[in-house]
Amino acid sequence: MMRLLTLWVMLCVSSLAMAQGKQLHESACVQCHSSLNGGNPDLMYTKADRKIGSFEALEKRVGYCAVAAGVSWSPEQVRAVTDYLNQQFYRF
Ligand code: HEC
Repeated sequence: MMRLLTLWVMLCVSSLAMAQGKQLHESACVQCHSSLNGGNPDLMYTKADRKIGSFEALEKRVGYCAVAAGVSWSPEQVRAVTDYLNQQFYRF
C-alpha cells in the first residue's frame, strides 16, 4: 500500500512538473520561436537540421535561451522546461 502511494505521489509530482514546464515554455519561448519559423514554433525542435543532440545539450540550451528571453528561472524551472521539451519533441 505504501509503495502504491509513493508511486502515485511520484506520478503526480512529475506530471505537475511537466505541466509547469509546458506553461513556462509557452509564456517565455513560443513567441520568438514562432516568429523565427513562420508561425510554427514547434519547427524549432522538429526541423531536420535541429542542433541539439543530447539531454545535457538541451538543458544548456534552455538555460541560454531563458537568458535571451529575459526570464530568471531557477535550475528547477530550467529542468521542468527541459523535461517537457524532451518528452514532447526530443526523446533522448
Ligand atoms: C529572442 C528569441 C528567442 C527566445 C525568446 C527563445 N529562443 Fe530558443 N532559439 C532562438 C534561436 C534564434 C534559435 C536557433 C538557433 C540556431 O538555429 O542555432 C533557438 C533555438 C532553441 C533551441 C534549439 C533547437 C534545436 O536546434 O534543436 C532550443 C532547445 C531553444 N531555443 C529553447 C528555448 C527555450 C526553452 C526558450 C524559452 C526560455 C527559448 N528558446 C526562447 C531564439 C529564441
